[in-house]
Amino acid sequence: MGSILNNDRKRIAIFASGNGSNLQAIIDYSKNIDINGDIVFVFSNNPDAFALERARNARINAECIPFDRNNSRIEFDNKILQAVKNKKIDLICLAGYMLLLSSDFISEYQNKIINIHPSLLPSFKGMHGIRDAFDYGVKATGVTVHFVDRELDNGPIILQEAVAVNEGETALDLEKKIHEAEHRLYPPAVRYFCRDELRIIGRKVLIMERN
Ligand code: GRF
Repeated sequence: MGSILNNDRKRIAIFASGNGSNLQAIIDYSKNIDINGDIVFVFSNNPDAFALERARNARINAECIPFDRNNSRIEFDNKILQAVKNKKIDLICLAGYMLLLSSDFISEYQNKIINIHPSLLPSFKGMHGIRDAFDYGVKATGVTVHFVDRELDNGPIILQEAVAVNEGETALDLEKKIHEAEHRLYPPAVRYFCRDELRIIGRKVLIMERN
C-alpha cells in the first residue's frame, strides 16, 4: 500500500476549558508520529484555561470566547461554528470542553467531532466520571474516546482502555491513572481519524489500519 498523500492532511481543532493535558498529549504525540493532521486551532470558553497557554507555547492559533450564562447559547455556538468553518476544520476534538455543543453545531460536523470521557461508557456519563465510578465502588473503570452525537457521552466508541481500581487507592490515585490512560488513548484515536481509518457502522466503529 502506498503512503498517505500529504494533500489529505486533516485540519484539527481542539476545544478545551481547563488544564489541557489531553491537548498537550496530542501536541507531543504529533511531534514524534505523523498523524496525517495538524492542530491548527485551539478554542476555549474559559479565558483562564491553561490549555490556551499550552496552545500558544506550541504556536497554535488559540481563541477564547468567554461564555456567561446571560449569552444566548445559539449565538455563542454560531460564533464558534463560524470560526471553525473559516478555518476549514476537518476534525474537532473535545478535550475537557465543559459546554454542551448545540444540536445544530453537532449536525454540521456530524461524525467529525470526537470526545474523551474518563470512564468506560456507557457507565458513569456526565461531569464527574472518575469520582462517580470511585464512589460506586467499581473494581475497574477506564477511559473512552467516542464520536459525539446529540446525546451526552453517547456516540459510537472508537477506543476504550480499562483501568483497575485497587484496594487502598484514593480517588486522587485513580484520577492520576485515568489521566495517564487518556494521554495514551486520545492521540492514536486522532491519528486513526486523520488517516481515514475509522468506519462507523451503526453503533460500531471499525478501525481499518493502513500501512
Ligand atoms: C479529562 O479527564 C477528560 O476525560 C474530561 O475532561 C478532562 C480534561 O482534562 N473530558 P485536561 O484538560 O485534558 O487535562
